[in-house]
Amino acid sequence: MSTFKAPKGTYDLLPPGSATYLAVREAIAAPLRRSGYGYVETPGFESVELFARGVGESTDIVTKEMYTLTTKGGDELALRPEGTASVLRAALEANLHRAGNLPVKLWYSGSYYRYERPQKGRYRHFSQVGAEAVGTEDPTLDAELIVLACDAYRSLGLTGFRLLLNSLGDRTCRPVYRAALQDFLRGLDLDEDTRARIDINPLRVLDDKRESVQRQLAGAPMMRDHLCAECKAFHEEVRALLTEAGVPFEDDPRLVRGLDYYTRTTFEFVHDGLGAQSAIGGGGRYDGLSEMIGGPALPSVGWALGVDRTVLALEAEGVELELAPATELFAVPLGDEARRALFRLVTELRREGVAADLAYGGKGMKNAMKSADRSGARFALLLGDRDLAEGVAQLKDLASGEQQALPLDRVVAEVRAELR
Ligand code: HAM
Repeated sequence: MSTFKAPKGTYDLLPPGSATYLAVREAIAAPLRRSGYGYVETPGFESVELFARGVGESTDIVTKEMYTLTTKGGDELALRPEGTASVLRAALEANLHRAGNLPVKLWYSGSYYRYERPQKGRYRHFSQVGAEAVGTEDPTLDAELIVLACDAYRSLGLTGFRLLLNSLGDRTCRPVYRAALQDFLRGLDLDEDTRARIDINPLRVLDDKRESVQRQLAGAPMMRDHLCAECKAFHEEVRALLTEAGVPFEDDPRLVRGLDYYTRTTFEFVHDGLGAQSAIGGGGRYDGLSEMIGGPALPSVGWALGVDRTVLALEAEGVELELAPATELFAVPLGDEARRALFRLVTELRREGVAADLAYGGKGMKNAMKSADRSGARFALLLGDRDLAEGVAQLKDLASGEQQALPLDRVVAEVRAELR
């Protein structure tokens, strides 16, 4: 063991489990790729100011959870705690919205960093796959994204998740609601920290998990009763489209997200097998974010799904993904000449698309066959001196134990035929 360990709140992805992570990322991306979303990749760090303005000065993410640093040149940077602000920044910087083809639909996949108190499902380095549709105010887009997330989870075989849906209103109706909520909250018996929140971010108080607070919130005014006519119609349309698409949802008037940029549609996917960190994905509409970071008005909507938590959800449901075998054929050479000949064959097989590996380090037959078994390969390809003299190799089916001699110049074609 080395003297070093992975930093607190992080963990390493190692084979064979890491294959599940890749498959989850791929499964989330697949429906997006089929729906007109193009891949975007942005730097792992951005100006602190981008997140302060975008995610919100009053959020836990910005005030407590950002990894910030000052560069030698004096720039204030932060490891990205989320993807939306960066993706919108990149789209604006490249003028993607000016190409006359709105919405700009983008998807991304990568690492995010939050200095949170680590626990199961909550890490300081975690992984998201996200999607953003920038520049169009259309409830069909909100519904499209929610449907795509739901399809991604379903394609993985998950069933134990629920979709919570809410509307947070817009710049017309939210301030009125906010004031009404503040009035209500000021009349409650709350601790000092929570009272401070009433002024800065009253909606977050609704999200307080403590029983003593929840009990007092029973009669709190709800955004849904304060939505303006436009927001109400928009929300009803999203709900109708989801119903038509066969995506069940639960109206959750208390759903508040941990980022300040949301307007109108907000949603979260929760999984009941995960305990406290049950949100496996979330998102919503952010019609004002572009202006908040210095851009033009670009109403947008998006989500990010947590890869780590989706993997935990698979484990909780006991779902085993059917993954392509890492190795289909394992070659076992006995002797130097055989090693050279098999190296050539393995190279050729790989170029033909067969996942092939070789026993290295001059292992004896017994050890090499153990490696072949461990690799999970369907076939072993054995080559010894006598085979070489006869111009054949032995193809062994590792499940049945059956073995056949193949002429060396037929090996690639025969193996491909057996595997496909
Ligand atoms: P978020 O809800 O903060 O939204 O994160 C999305 C998902 O990332 C969560 O539902 C969760 O699965 C995962 N996640 C967040 N924090 C952690 C953590 N510390 N450890 C493990 N997993 C975590 C956003 O990030 C928004 N940018 C989503 C969005 C995109 N809204 C609009 N567009």
